[in-house]
Amino acid sequence: MPNNGTIIKVSGPLVVARGLDGTRIYDMVRVGRYKLFGEVVEIRGEEYFIQVYEETEGLGPGEPVYPTGSAFSVEVGPGLIGAIYDGIQRPLDTINRLHGNYIVRGIEQPPLDRKKKWHFYPLKNIGDDVVPGDVIGYVQESKLVRHMIMVPVNVKGRLSIIEEKDGTIEDIIAIVETDTGTKELTMLQRRPVRNPQKVNKKQQTTVPLVTGQRIIDTFFPITKGGVACIPGPFGSGKTVIQHQLSRWADADIIVYVGCGERGNEMTEVLIDFPVLKDPKTGEPLMERTVLIANTSNMPVAAREASIFTGITIAEYYRDMGYSVALMADSTSRWGEAMREMSGRLEEMPGEEGFPTYLSSRLAGFYERAGNVICLGSDERQGSLSVIGAVSPPGGDFSEPVTQSTLRVVKAFWGLDDRLASQRQFPAINWLASYSLYQDVVDEYAIANIHKDWKAYRVKAMGILQKESELEELVRLVGIDSLSPKDRLLMDVARMIREDFLYQNAYDLRDTYTSLRKQFLMLAVIIGFYDKANELLQSNVELGMILSISSLSDIAQMRFIPEESLGEFDKLETKMMRELVALTSK
Ligand SMILES: Nc1ncnc2c1ncn2[C@@H]1O[C@H](COP(=O)(O)OP(=O)(O)O)[C@@H](O)[C@H]1O
Ligand SMILES: [Mg+2]
Repeated sequence: MPNNGTIIKVSGPLVVARGLDGTRIYDMVRVGRYKLFGEVVEIRGEEYFIQVYEETEGLGPGEPVYPTGSAFSVEVGPGLIGAIYDGIQRPLDTINRLHGNYIVRGIEQPPLDRKKKWHFYPLKNIGDDVVPGDVIGYVQESKLVRHMIMVPVNVKGRLSIIEEKDGTIEDIIAIVETDTGTKELTMLQRRPVRNPQKVNKKQQTTVPLVTGQRIIDTFFPITKGGVACIPGPFGSGKTVIQHQLSRWADADIIVYVGCGERGNEMTEVLIDFPVLKDPKTGEPLMERTVLIANTSNMPVAAREASIFTGITIAEYYRDMGYSVALMADSTSRWGEAMREMSGRLEEMPGEEGFPTYLSSRLAGFYERAGNVICLGSDERQGSLSVIGAVSPPGGDFSEPVTQSTLRVVKAFWGLDDRLASQRQFPAINWLASYSLYQDVVDEYAIANIHKDWKAYRVKAMGILQKESELEELVRLVGIDSLSPKDRLLMDVARMIREDFLYQNAYDLRDTYTSLRKQFLMLAVIIGFYDKANELLQSNVELGMILSISSLSDIAQMRFIPEESLGEFDKLETKMMRELVALTSK
């Protein structure tokens, strides 16, 4: 065991100590008389620089620092689902129950219940050879999640014992004879957080992560295993989008990291999620969710911990062969924590005072996403999608956190103050946003939804782009200067904005839209546009076209229930009948 050390300096969340010989970088230590949780983030000669994840007030030079001899790691095993953790994986609900509504410093509360019994079902037999990552059995962790028990990374050999039993996470469920001796396996493992978990192979992402949010799925999609960011000024809807995705995205597992944002936003998740039901299974959404809450009133340094804790838990479920989606709200608060720490470490500052490693640290986080063949001898595929909110001061996207993030993510959902103030939600700026996953999602949607998926999307986006060009002109010379054709386009663009892109997160009928319904909605609008253009050519007046009663049905079509999509046929038939009737007038 490494030596105990002594504090020589305390500067906010940074503690400098000496005498910790044998402790390595990124090892956990316990700091001072309260035994606060800390991590060695730098070693300069004799001096150990410790990032402390708890409030350091009252801590002073001369107090002891205790090494733990191990890297900052999280516990993984049955019991994660439904848990609510702080940044260093302390169970907030248990702590609240035991100590009231605040965290007593230095509290050591195991992240996973040691007493609870799980029924372990083996999937391997005695005599089977196993390698790291192999699934040896499972427990039913929640109604929605079958929790695979995997062989840890350093274990390889032949199973000499494996048995079906009720056991705690610390009970032995299997024994492996390895070259170097006998290894006892339990359902509890520890994973260091700083490095990505090994996988067999990373591969292209090919399947959309359906979010049920029309502007995202149709225009700026993300894939299972993809990376997206949501930059936007305060109040533009970042958190609402993150919540929507956590609710509706068709991932098997959701990990939600609240990082440095106001507590009441987390409360919304904490209160809503336990009661909200998954539309597909009817089960509470918490049955597939892990929450990590590091709110703005919690120690700044723990923001970084919350990000790493979250992604490590997310990787663990990906390794089981699941599609996992991780939300981080907000990565800017993490960036700010890095800046503060770097300042206290007296490092050479980079742009706007952020550390020079800001970019690489953010990239390292997002690069843990992906679509993979999991570790192990069987062919399991898992995916981890990462969606980070970015809150640039003043909504200025040129600042370092946004820019560094843009370099790594492949989908960019840029939120716009102006749209938010017009209550055009989600306030994703359709002219500025992009997704590099569009091609693969097109391919998927053409095969699985409709052959015209891409054609309609391209056409609709073309209309929106043309609208913004025409807006300039209208500002200069007035709407009357536009040709009927262009005025039609302006009206159809408005329909796309108001009847398709606008989506109310709080309306139960509108909050989620399947890909099929998204297509049908767009098809109605494009169908109207094409037919109306034809009519204009045959000299039907635009005013007549815009007065058909079907337009009010179109304005209501987002409320058509998923189980009555046949209504779209009726809507289209009625609309066409009305339009065709105009030619005979
Ligand atoms: N899709 C949406 N539907 C309805 N209201 C929305 C939507 N998105 C955002 N809002 C409104 O905008 C407000 C601010 O959104 P929020 O996500 O908290 O902003 P941010 O996290 O960017 O500061 C919400 O409280 C809500 O009233
Ligand atoms: Mg927010």
